[in-house]
Amino acid sequence: MYVRTLTLRDFRSWDQVDLELSPGRTVFLGANGNGKTNLVEAVGYLSTLGSHRVSSDTPLIRLGAQRSRIGATVVNAGRELRVDMELNQGSANRAQINRSPVRRTREILGILQTVLFAPEDLALVRGDPSERRRFLDELCTARLPRLAGVRSDYDRVLRQRSALLKTAGRQARSRSGQAAELSTLDVWDGHLATHGAELLAQRLRLVHDLYPHLEQSYRSIAPESRTASIRYRSGYLPPEYLDPARDPQPEDVEVLEAIIVSELAQARPKELERGVCLVGPHRDDLELMLGSAPAKGFASHGESWSFALALRLSAFELLRGMGTDPILMLDDVFAELDRRRRTALAAVAATAEQVLITAAVPEDVPAELEATPLRVETTGEADERTSHIADQVSPTTS
Ligand SMILES: Nc1ncnc2c1ncn2[C@@H]1O[C@H](COP(=O)(O)OP(=O)(O)O)[C@@H](O)[C@H]1O
Ligand SMILES: [Mg+2]
Repeated sequence: MYVRTLTLRDFRSWDQVDLELSPGRTVFLGANGNGKTNLVEAVGYLSTLGSHRVSSDTPLIRLGAQRSRIGATVVNAGRELRVDMELNQGSANRAQINRSPVRRTREILGILQTVLFAPEDLALVRGDPSERRRFLDELCTARLPRLAGVRSDYDRVLRQRSALLKTAGRQARSRSGQAAELSTLDVWDGHLATHGAELLAQRLRLVHDLYPHLEQSYRSIAPESRTASIRYRSGYLPPEYLDPARDPQPEDVEVLEAIIVSELAQARPKELERGVCLVGPHRDDLELMLGSAPAKGFASHGESWSFALALRLSAFELLRGMGTDPILMLDDVFAELDRRRRTALAAVAATAEQVLITAAVPEDVPAELEATPLRVETTGEADERTSHIADQVSPTTS
């Protein structure tokens, strides 16, 4: 697939831009702070309903504006779809597909698929488990958009159950009536297990499908290094479920649900004592291994970068295997990579249907990619600085 037009209104440093894009490789060139990453962040938002840089939408809305608009025309196997998002300050966001409002913004998921590799990705290797859970969940959702609903149900149940654990725990300690809370808690255990098992089953399936790609991607980037592998980590699942080579079965969901219910029952006293939910996919992690050592803590800077890149490239291969190339977005990453890793990344980028690249200078981008340059500038002072696309430096065709 590819993005044919991108329209922004009051998104970050862009007050308005209407971009025509082609398949193939485009590089946004410009000095730091000119608004290049903001462009790929906007495209990424349409594909994940979130930013890779911030967890709330407020920073995305241009300073002084009430709302932001992001729109794109997406061409997938000759078929065009228009998708629009409106991010509102202080009220719910809204979305449209082909100019018709949809009931829930998450209905747009799946129309635009992206894989973004960015400097922030070092946190995939070195950061908290939440970074890796997000990686898994975004990729699961790209494969199966209805999982967005499961994730949001799970998050809601988790919040409500955690609040209940806190009040029930307090009451247990003060020995006042707690029977009502405890039976309500049983109901929430059931909901948590139902949604949790569905999410868990998809994550396990993803790790199973991803791990051969990951191993291969890492080898192509860092052939001299030890073998990279991934494995799902969970404190409450029997070990056989964590083996990435195990073929997921359709009946897994029910089994996982039963496991969560029984583990919740066991954990109940500790949960009441601590007031937190101790069992469920929100506690899990993706283990990244180099040889027999965990990448986190053991991998060098270069190896960590290679691992992060391998995770993104394997995500790209996996989505590509579903029939259409996701849009590959490479944010300021070539300059960070040594020659071998640049070449490996360029090899994938050369075959992707559309690649959006950001770089400070053309020399940062491998020449063999023959990327079409678009120069990004800013005008204005301080908070009023506004990004623009300058005339194309030297329009090329490929
Ligand atoms: N909500 C916002 N309103 C106005 N400007 C913003 C907003 N968020 C970020 N910016 C500006 O965007 C610029 C950074 O853009 P970015 O795309 O990250 O630059 P780069 O070209 O280095 O990738 C900064 O100048 C920052 O002040
Ligand atoms: Mg940038």
